[in-house]
Amino acid sequence: MKPQEIRPGVWWVGVNDRVTELFEGLWPISQVGVSYNSYLIKDEKSALVDLSKEMLSDDYLAQINEVFDIASLDYIIINHMEPDHSGALKRLLELAPQAVILGMPKAVKMLNDFYGLTENVEHLSNGQELSLGRNTLRFVYTPFVHWPETMMTYLVEQKVLFSCDGFGGYGALDGAIFDDTCADLEYYEAESLRYFTNIVASFSKSVLRAISNFEGVSIEMVAPSHGLIWRKHPERIIELYQKWSGHYQSPAEVGITALFGTMYRNTEHALSAALDGIASESVPVKVHDVRKAHISHILPDLWTQRGVLVAAPTYEGGMFPSMADALTMADRKRVKNKKAAYLGSFAWSGGAEKEFERFAEKMEWDVLNSFGFIGGPKGADLDRARELGVQLARAVKE
Ligand code: FEO
Repeated sequence: MKPQEIRPGVWWVGVNDRVTELFEGLWPISQVGVSYNSYLIKDEKSALVDLSKEMLSDDYLAQINEVFDIASLDYIIINHMEPDHSGALKRLLELAPQAVILGMPKAVKMLNDFYGLTENVEHLSNGQELSLGRNTLRFVYTPFVHWPETMMTYLVEQKVLFSCDGFGGYGALDGAIFDDTCADLEYYEAESLRYFTNIVASFSKSVLRAISNFEGVSIEMVAPSHGLIWRKHPERIIELYQKWSGHYQSPAEVGITALFGTMYRNTEHALSAALDGIASESVPVKVHDVRKAHISHILPDLWTQRGVLVAAPTYEGGMFPSMADALTMADRKRVKNKKAAYLGSFAWSGGAEKEFERFAEKMEWDVLNSFGFIGGPKGADLDRARELGVQLARAVKE
């Protein structure tokens, strides 16, 4: 994609990554890709805000060259040091060795830690401004959205917020880069939620704090480092992030995420009875088979739905391994404050139920019901499973 002028003198010079299979080495993006958005401000002085991943350096430098002589670059603004944004830095500096690199103090340390860079590096303070001529950059410290050094850059006169990971999403930019020009906004919003739950949700408090920093500030364009640029409705993505972040402590949406794993379908039969119970209460449910679904795709439901049903058998005296993996990541991502229930089969002695209870306690889940059954579910087990579903569904409606 060609660079695009998104405001007078402000250029999107980003690149699409359709090569990486796992974002951060963890999260599948091979079907959707991701963009590394970088922004060039051409004024009396010039500045680049965020860069790209190292492996796309050639594409990235070619993008800038289309509209600007890199050798004359004055400033490189490091909103965030994670290498998906800073990886192209050393290649860039070969062409613009005089450019001054600016970041928060923790970014300055990381520049040395990651790249051995100490020359031409200056640290910023929260709220500091830098005039480029007609444009002024204001640097707002937003720690832990996503790393401790992270900041956002606000272009004062043009009311553009370069928000870095905040308000970002998966999904390469398929020609259109704006919320009002892309053909499928729903897709990008869903990929923004997946990105949020995978990358940022653990830091929800920090996201809310960052948003509060901009109360009373007029924002006409949100330009994150991944995904769409929001110019028609910049408030839309801010409100979505605010809502999703709020789920870390307040009751989420009325619905249940059912996670299940099964070896010989005994647990699956009991799950079906529980789903009948949930359906009888008309509560929406999303079912994920943890043997097949990647946790990246499960987290959006787990994060946003109020209830969790865990259905998994005992395996060698403990939780079925792929369920244990899913719950471990849910814990890492701080999926808290849920109404929860467990059921599962065991062959000679239990173990999964106890392991579930330990997980639930750690994650501060309110466990309403849990039971194991030996072998295949009998009529009484299926009745109990159905009742468990009804109980859980009623609880999430309260
Ligand atoms: Fe897009 Fe935290 O890096």
